[in-house]
Amino acid sequence: MEKNHKIRSLSDILDIKKLMNVDKPIETANGLPNQCYTSKEYLEYERDRIFCDKWTVIGVGNSIPNPGDAKPYNLLGIPLMIVRDKDLKIRVFHNVCSHRGFKLLDKPCTLKNVIRCPYHSWSYDFKGNLLATPHIGGLNIHNSDKFNKNQSNLKEVRSKIWMDIIFVNINANEIDFEDYIKPLEDRWSRFINHDDQKLLVHSNDYGSFDLTVKCNWKFAIENYCESYHLPTIHPELNKVSNINDHYHIQGLPNRFAGQGSEKYEQPVKGNKKFDTFNNWEKKSLKNSEYIALFPNVMIGLHIDHFYVFWLEPIGINKTKEHMQMYYIGEKSANGEELKDLRKENARFWKDVMLEDISAIEGMQEGRGSPTYNGGNFSPVMDQPTHQFHKWVANSLI
Ligand code: FES
Ligand SMILES: [Fe+2]
Repeated sequence: MEKNHKIRSLSDILDIKKLMNVDKPIETANGLPNQCYTSKEYLEYERDRIFCDKWTVIGVGNSIPNPGDAKPYNLLGIPLMIVRDKDLKIRVFHNVCSHRGFKLLDKPCTLKNVIRCPYHSWSYDFKGNLLATPHIGGLNIHNSDKFNKNQSNLKEVRSKIWMDIIFVNINANEIDFEDYIKPLEDRWSRFINHDDQKLLVHSNDYGSFDLTVKCNWKFAIENYCESYHLPTIHPELNKVSNINDHYHIQGLPNRFAGQGSEKYEQPVKGNKKFDTFNNWEKKSLKNSEYIALFPNVMIGLHIDHFYVFWLEPIGINKTKEHMQMYYIGEKSANGEELKDLRKENARFWKDVMLEDISAIEGMQEGRGSPTYNGGNFSPVMDQPTHQFHKWVANSLI
C-alpha cells in the first residue's frame, strides 16, 4: 500500500463552500459545482451517498413479467439482479455468488427452478436460499459437516414496487417506502387512489423506448423540473400548452419536484380515446403532472395514461433513459382498436424527449468551463430545479 494513499473525501473533490451556496435562498444561490457533473471521483461518492442511501429506481416490473424472469443491473459497478419468484414477487439480490464471488447472472433470461452459478454450480432458489453445493466435500459428496449452507444465501437488497416501478435502497438506511412515497400519494389522491394504481397496464407494442444521452443523469432531472424551456426547446408543445398553463410542483419534505399543466388534451383518433381513471377529480380533468422523484425517476400522470421515464447512470457524462408507458386497463394498453393511438402517443413523447437531448447535452458541454460557478436561478421559473439542487447538496453533506 502506498504510504500517502488516503481515501478521498468530498472536500478533496470539490469546494464544500460552493456546495453550501446551493442551499441559500434562490435569489442568491448558485447551482451545484461543476465537479458534480465532470468528476469521476465525485461520481463514486455520489453512488454511495445518493444511489445507495436513497430509494433508487432500477427498472420496472413489466420487464420481468413471468415467474423465473431475471435481469442483471449494473449500478455504477455494483452488480445487482432482479428476479421474479414463483409467487410473482419481485426480489432484488446482489448479483454475486457467495462461494468465490462469480457474477451470477450475465444477461436477461428466464430461470427454470434455480439460480445456478456457472463457476462451480452452486444453486440458489428464487428467494436467495443456497440449495445445492455440488462436490463441496470432494467428488460426489454434495454436503459437508464443516459448511453451513444457511450462512451463504444470496444477499437480498431492500426493494419495493410502486406503480410498477422497482425501487431499491441498497444501504437499507432510508425511511420505509410507504412513508417515503406518502407525500406524493397524498398530492395525487385527487387524481388516483390505490385501487386506480392497480388499473395500470403496460403497453407491449408501443410502450417502451430507450435513449442514450451524452450527459450526466442530473441534467435530465433538472430539465424535467422546469417548464421555462418550453418556448425554445418544444415550440410545438408550447403552442398547445405554454408557460402560463403550467404550475410549479415542490414536494415537502423535499424529495420530489416538477411541473403540472392545466391544458392537457386527451389524444383522440376519430371517436376513439383511451379509457380514463375512475376517481379523477372532476374539476381537474385537464390537469397532468410531471414529477421528478429524486434521485432518478421522472413520472408523468394524465387522466388516460402514465409513464415512467427512469435514468440509468452509466458514467459521469453518459446516461441511459428508459421510457415505459402504461394505460388504464387491458383494452387501452394492448387492444387492437387503440393501437394507432398508442403509436401516436408514444411518438409524441419520444419527440418531446428527443427535443430535450440538445438541452441536456448542451449543459454538459458548458460544465467544462472553469469560469462557471454553478449558475444562477430564475427566482420565478427555476424553483423546482433549485429544489433538486438543494436535495442533492443536502444528500452529499
Ligand atoms: S463461485 Fe459460484 S459456485 Fe463457485
Ligand atoms: Fe423538455
